Formats: sequence, C-alpha cells, structure tokens
Amino acid sequence: MEECNDNISFFKEGLRLDSRRPDELRPIKIEAGVLARADGSCYIEMGGNKVIAAVYGPREVHPRHLQEVTRAIVRYRYNMASFSVEERKRPGPDRRSHEISKVSREALEPVILTSYFPRSVIDVFVEVLQADAGTRTAGINAASVALADAGIPMKSMISACAAGKVGDTLVLDPMKEEDNFGQADMPVAMTPNGDITLLQMDGRFTKDEFSQALEMAMKGCREIYELQRKCLIGKYAQLETEPFLEVQVCD
Ligand code: CDP
Repeated sequence: MEECNDNISFFKEGLRLDSRRPDELRPIKIEAGVLARADGSCYIEMGGNKVIAAVYGPREVHPRHLQEVTRAIVRYRYNMASFSVEERKRPGPDRRSHEISKVSREALEPVILTSYFPRSVIDVFVEVLQADAGTRTAGINAASVALADAGIPMKSMISACAAGKVGDTLVLDPMKEEDNFGQADMPVAMTPNGDITLLQMDGRFTKDEFSQALEMAMKGCREIYELQRKCLIGKYAQLETEPFLEVQVCD
C-alpha cells in the first residue's frame, strides 16, 4: 500500500475505475477438478486474478519428524509466478509468500477435520498465474473448493475477500490501482456462519470505517460462498446424472 495519491480520481459519477459500485465484487469464475493428477483442484478468476489450487492428501508425511500423533498437519504453499505481475517477480519463495502461506493455512485449518487423519499431511499448493490485488483471498477461495473437491472432511467452506478505502470511500474487493494508491486494505476470510478465520489490515480506518468495511467484506464473502457452493454442486450433480458413458455396439 502506497501513500494515498490525491491526484488520482478513483470515482466517476459514483462508479469506480472499472465501473463497479463501491460495494460490488469483481466478476468471479470458479471451476473445480481442473487437474487430473491432484486429489482436488480448483481454478478461480476474481477480476484480473487467475489462480489455481491443488490439494494432495491426506498422505504420508515427509520428513517423518513432522508427523503429529493425533491429527493431520496442513501445509499451504502460496507461490506467485514470475510472469504474474507487471514487473517480473524473482522466482521462488520470499518474505511475502511465506507470510501469505502462513495466514492462508491458518484461515483454512480451523474447518479441516484434521483429527480424522493422524500422522498424515494435507498439502495445498496455490499458484498465482496472474495478479491484480487480492491474490491471497483468491487463493483461499480456490483452496477451499479444492479441499472439498479432494473429499477432505471439513466443518464448512471458507470464503475470502477484501474491503478497502480509496478517496475516503469504502470499497469492496479492491483491484490493483485501488490497492496500490488507496488508503487501506483489509482481507477477510470466514465460514458461512460468519466466524472469521483471517483478518489483516494495511493502512488506516476510523473505528466506524473499520466496522463498515468488515460488514462489507463479510457481505462479499457470503456472495463468494454461494458461487463456491454452486460450483461444487454443479460438478457433482453432473457426475450423478451422467455416471456412465453410453457405448454403441455395432455388429
Ligand atoms: O495480492 P494480495 O492483495 O493478497 O497481496 P498484496 O501483497 O497486497 O499485493 C497486492 C498486489 O500487488 C498483488 O495482487 C499484485 O498485483 C501486486 N504485486 C506485484 O505487482 N508484485 C509483487 N512482487 C507482489 C505484488
């Protein structure tokens, strides 16, 4: 987050630079089961973000000393492809990706029934192919669908999105320009019941703005949850109605 730039006009006739209302999400596309060799997977587009998540496990832990006797461990690796951003990113892990991996794992872990799988590991890999602000929330949304797609028992889904402040106005799901030149950014993840599992804040809100921004982000999460649900129901309903291939036998 850079200092607010007063010369930038973020609104035109009440609409944002990409013609959204302040409380509107960017267009979202979610697809489950996109990778043949992962146990579960998901591809998500949230505005300009393109992110893929792959889940492997529960499986044996390597190295073995990481094993937990009473539960599965969850590993989460967030990675940003070097071509995903305007200015080529140096490949490999850095402080930012370590931080995002940690908070994203902590956002998902509370709903995963890890006690069902002692001594094992559930691996979540998140690859950002194209970034446009909000990649951690897009990654969490994709990972949640990929975990469900892998058949990992969970108490509920997790949905995530950010609220921000630009030109003294609160906005839902900031895009890159708003994130870069805005005044605040607050990514949130939560269960459908409203239990918050991630809340970070960059920049400044007043107390009232904080409450309003949180309510706005929670509204966004509820909308995303409906899309995640629809995506999973769509995939598995399709499998149910088309269980067999029809084979025509010719004489
Ligand atoms: O992506 P997210 O908002 O979760 O994390 P961030 O650290 O606030 O980054 C915001 C945005 O800055 C990213 O989504 C990218 O579009 C951009 N970025 C970049 O251009 N180059 C980087 N090395 C890191 C981030």
